[in-house]
Amino acid sequence: MRKLPVAPKPKDILITGCAELITLCGAVPRRGRALGDLDVIRDGALLIRDGRITAVGPRRRIESLRKSRRVRKIDLGGRVVLPGFVDAHTHLVFPASRAAEYEQRISGATYEEIARAGGGIHNSAQKLRGTSSRDLKRRALAHLAQFAAHGTTTLEAKSGYGLTWESERKILLVLRELEREQPLNIVRTFLGAHVVPHEYRHRAGKTPDAYVDLVCRQWLPRVATDNLAEFCDVFCDRGAFTVAQARRILTAARTCGLGLRLHAEQLAHTGAAKLAVEIHAASADHLEKISSSDIRALAHSNVTCTLLPGCCFHLGLAQYGPARKLIDAGAIVALATDFNPGTSPTLSMPMILSLACTQMRMTPAEAIAAATINAAYSLGRHDRIGSLEVGKFADLAAFDVDDYREIPYYFGVTHCSLTMKRGQVIYSRERSSRV
Ligand code: NIG
Ligand code: FE
Repeated sequence: MRKLPVAPKPKDILITGCAELITLCGAVPRRGRALGDLDVIRDGALLIRDGRITAVGPRRRIESLRKSRRVRKIDLGGRVVLPGFVDAHTHLVFPASRAAEYEQRISGATYEEIARAGGGIHNSAQKLRGTSSRDLKRRALAHLAQFAAHGTTTLEAKSGYGLTWESERKILLVLRELEREQPLNIVRTFLGAHVVPHEYRHRAGKTPDAYVDLVCRQWLPRVATDNLAEFCDVFCDRGAFTVAQARRILTAARTCGLGLRLHAEQLAHTGAAKLAVEIHAASADHLEKISSSDIRALAHSNVTCTLLPGCCFHLGLAQYGPARKLIDAGAIVALATDFNPGTSPTLSMPMILSLACTQMRMTPAEAIAAATINAAYSLGRHDRIGSLEVGKFADLAAFDVDDYREIPYYFGVTHCSLTMKRGQVIYSRERSSRV
């Protein structure tokens, strides 16, 4: 029997039904007033081929293009469409929640008191050493599905709950496997200097500086040679690493070819923000305790200031990062969840947007740009992701709302109804949540 010719599957996808298509095309990174430039196309459309955007604009124009004729059509039915969120600061791999510490804090203990008593990061590190890669991966996979359901398409993820070479490596290998086995992109960061392990604080002959030596001389070269991470981060703060120690570690990391990030000025003002400027870090994160002179220095640098309002909310602290002052001074501001079991157990970027707007006085437009294009810049990926422009990956999230401002406005819920990664639908929800 003669075979019937099989009609080739259309390669292109035409997306319509974008009541507001937020492209974020324009200058990168966004500073000052430009942070609020979203470039909103009403009744917009996108054409996608092989996972990349080939045309974007008003529906009528895109539909009339020759290449829009034989395509697979996805009509979103009037939603707000954004570039997928880029969550540039997470601690994705951890063994268990720390709900007991949450309760202790509600009863009056502080984050630092709990850490000094052996809880906090030490608590997670001890549990992680006894948890198999398989279990760590299973937990992380469940969380990654939730990230996608909240509109995130790329995330940075740090090690840091290992604090021994075997366990730090275990986390980075889990992240590498996860990157291969599920659709979200994961950018790996080595955070061996998260906190000084007990054995380097309380045992004769072992000092915090000996731990720094170990990280610089033995671990960092292996991280680089085995391509385990792209960035190195240090928790430079009271009770963690000093500015001098962080400088040593990050200088060694740069020599190994890694990009630099820094947990800076979260618990106390230490000089970590100025260090970030001095060493040309890609990002300085937290920044709740920065001074006006830090703000000026950051504003004149290319360091992205990644603000993490989820931490202040979860720890019940009143002093959020000075987003307004940073933006007005011209600094590059990004937003991230800091998803972790101690200070910010949320993976919801819409919730972070809500906190940024009400607690840090960012406008909804500024918060969206900070969570997409500026975050992509901090990861060195602004040429591929962070905005919906021709040539970039079709990474996007659709929300069941009429106006982009309603994304932060409806706090504590997500109206994300569809997430697409490189042109593939990776999350879709029935339209019952339409408001
Ligand atoms: O970003 N500050 C250091 N690291 C995390 C907290 C980690 C933890 O408590 O487990 C943070 O807030
Ligand atoms: Fe963190």
